[in-house]
Amino acid sequence: MKNLDNQLASDIVIFGALGDLSRRKLLPALYQLEVSGLIHSDSRIIGAARQEQTLDEFKALILENFNNFIKEALDLVAVERFMARLIYQKLDFKDKKSFVNLSNTLSNKNSIKVYYFSTPPSIYGDICAGLDYAKLINDVSRVVMEKPIGNCLESSILINDQVSAFFKEEQIYRIDHYLGKETVLNLLVLRFANSLFTTNWDRDSIDHVQITVAESVGIEGRWGFYDEAGQMRDMVQNHLLQILSLLAMEPPADLSATSIRAEKLKVVRALATIDRHNVKEKTVRGQYTDGFLKGISVPGYLNEEGANTRSSTETFVAIKAEIDNWRWSGVPFYLRTGKRMPQKHSEIVVHFKEQPHNIFKESYSHLPANKLTIRLQPDEGVELQMMNKIPGIASQMHIQENTLDLSFSQAYNNERVVDAYERLMLEILNGNQSLFVSRDEVEASWLWTDSIIKAWQQNNEHPKPYAAGSWGPVASISLIARDDRQWVE
Ligand code: BG6
Repeated sequence: MKNLDNQLASDIVIFGALGDLSRRKLLPALYQLEVSGLIHSDSRIIGAARQEQTLDEFKALILENFNNFIKEALDLVAVERFMARLIYQKLDFKDKKSFVNLSNTLSNKNSIKVYYFSTPPSIYGDICAGLDYAKLINDVSRVVMEKPIGNCLESSILINDQVSAFFKEEQIYRIDHYLGKETVLNLLVLRFANSLFTTNWDRDSIDHVQITVAESVGIEGRWGFYDEAGQMRDMVQNHLLQILSLLAMEPPADLSATSIRAEKLKVVRALATIDRHNVKEKTVRGQYTDGFLKGISVPGYLNEEGANTRSSTETFVAIKAEIDNWRWSGVPFYLRTGKRMPQKHSEIVVHFKEQPHNIFKESYSHLPANKLTIRLQPDEGVELQMMNKIPGIASQMHIQENTLDLSFSQAYNNERVVDAYERLMLEILNGNQSLFVSRDEVEASWLWTDSIIKAWQQNNEHPKPYAAGSWGPVASISLIARDDRQWVE
């Protein structure tokens, strides 16, 4: 176990501690850090919420959640240590005066205060005002904000302004949990620790890139929230653009937050604008209808519980994105993401260019190009498709396409895949912002996605139906087929 005694302890306050995110992700992530001995012995975890609740009731709820959401057998000694850190604080987020109670609770003047906003963004400003009123903000406090940060550029500016009035940018940690995923981080290693990919990563070697983030789940009881957002705001504006920018950015000078965030930002800013003139040709919106998943019938989006049957919110998006810069000019990045697709399956496929001349016509009239597949989840790994000679004495050279497969579970002996929130929590405690999104990035991403959403509205572009359990509307196949290419399935 690491000795953390020479570091400062933290008081981690989770606003909205009884909510879904806190119970499913944040508290289990902190528990895992406890198991690994990565939380300072004097650190405390304060669950803040509006409801009246005793500490014992809070602890019982957290334990129940651990049993439900943590796959491995619980380490009872770590559970006991963890429970001893917990404090429950009833708090009316909109009433500044109630923050004085929190101030009494946070009596350890020397600890670093970490404020995790796991609430709707509409009350981030109130929480900041309450913290300020109770004199709970100083230069070393940190604040963590969950997505969505707004639902368009304008609202995100408003939220960022409200928080920035009290915290400096160096104190703000904007979460995109995809940046904490093992395989998303591995993109940095793959690209910048292997000279093979450092030199062949541009318009001269790469034909096009496909990024698919497919989910088999539907709306899971959050129809109202989702319907306001849709797949564009819920997944593309953040998760897909983060993957895209890590894939396409220039080599950062080092792993610092300043270097990485500056390079990612340049990519998002270089994305070619999609507006009403080209939106039809570059994007597809879809909405799932009744269908079957693994043989079981599931309702369509408009037949889900609580649905407004006239909603035209999209649950699927496909985009042909282009990056207008020297490295990527002419290389399309096809993005595709949707709910109720056949399986949970996220991957990046980098299609390299074909050989300029074929000397193996006897085996292949048309030589397949190399393909690098990065499996983000599940079955994390990296796969390279290459041509290989079939062993044998025949006078003709017989060749075939083979796969070099680096499956993480096999290579790393089925080691537990660290959850994204676990890593991000640790980075927050360590004060490292590299894996968090800067304000500029959030705003540049909104600028690009807002233009598409506006163009859909201007063109009255209704979502195209696709059956639950399928790979999206037929139009998404045409989107890529028009360029003489096809989705890898
Ligand atoms: C969230 C979205 O940010 O990411 C959800 O709001 C989505 O709609 C989820 O299901 C996907 O995350 P993961 O880690 O399961 O790929």
